Amino acid sequence: MAAEPAARAGLDPSRAPAKVNLTLRVLGRRADGYHDLDSLVAFAGAGDRLSFAPGPDWAIRVEGPSAADTGDPADNLVLKAARALEARCPGLPRGSFRLTKRLPVAAGLGGGSSDAAAALRLLAASAGLPAGHGAVVAAAVATGADVSVCLDPSARMMAGIGERVGEKLGLPPLFAVLANPGVAAPTPSVFRELGLRPGQRLREDPGAPPPRGRAALMDWLAARGNDLEAPALRVAPAVGETLAALRATQGCRLARMSGSGATCFGLYDDCHAAARAARTLRTRHPGWWIAPTLLR
Ligand code: C5P
Repeated sequence: MAAEPAARAGLDPSRAPAKVNLTLRVLGRRADGYHDLDSLVAFAGAGDRLSFAPGPDWAIRVEGPSAADTGDPADNLVLKAARALEARCPGLPRGSFRLTKRLPVAAGLGGGSSDAAAALRLLAASAGLPAGHGAVVAAAVATGADVSVCLDPSARMMAGIGERVGEKLGLPPLFAVLANPGVAAPTPSVFRELGLRPGQRLREDPGAPPPRGRAALMDWLAARGNDLEAPALRVAPAVGETLAALRATQGCRLARMSGSGATCFGLYDDCHAAARAARTLRTRHPGWWIAPTLLR
């Protein structure tokens, strides 16, 4: 699909929202080692921020509460995305990025991918390219498995290794609490723990798309899960504690892990129930990252 230009979609191009996998099914493992997925993704109000100013060369400054966890700025996916776009658009004006990192890192929220997608939106806007331009989409695929789905963030099905992105679903917004126990669940370790051989298939069907009504959607979500939850529990047992803590909050309708973890989410009937659950979790687990948020 071609993403809508960011301005037409009404999206603030500097916002890099957290991506949440409401469902994640692993269909099998490809010969190259990557896993084919079938996932419903949605995006949160919570996220990082990115700004861009033209300058002589590519540069990035990272600040914010999670800045210390982001590693060497030279390896940041924002710069990888910028270079991937420049390789496809010779003469693209260079410049420096300022990233305000609020999301936990390597947490199953696609934070780095969403930052990279925001960089592509900002660069496309500064170069006068529509956000759905072929070079932008190709640069997203080249930057990372999850970057494509973050280019125009709204609820969609995602397939392949993440590069096949469905149409906007227009789901009812979901009231959620995101909870991260501060323990890393590195994506490659979680996929490895799944234990599939290259070429091994688990399922062939891509699955039915979700219904649009809230009650039917909740039933559809309850009947599905995240295939990476069991391997993530072995890599990071704190995932189990996080799911149990969410399920113990008043009004929690459903709790699941996002991506390869360790962040989990709980769903609630309204924003008051979600806010109350977030307060309870902050009291019980003062060291955790907790964010009440709307998923859409
Ligand atoms: O592309 P990205 O850097 O996000 O992926 C990190 C790692 O996660 C890959 O190197 C691979 O081991 C694993 N992965 C996978 N199948 C996917 C996505 C990621 O096996 N669909």
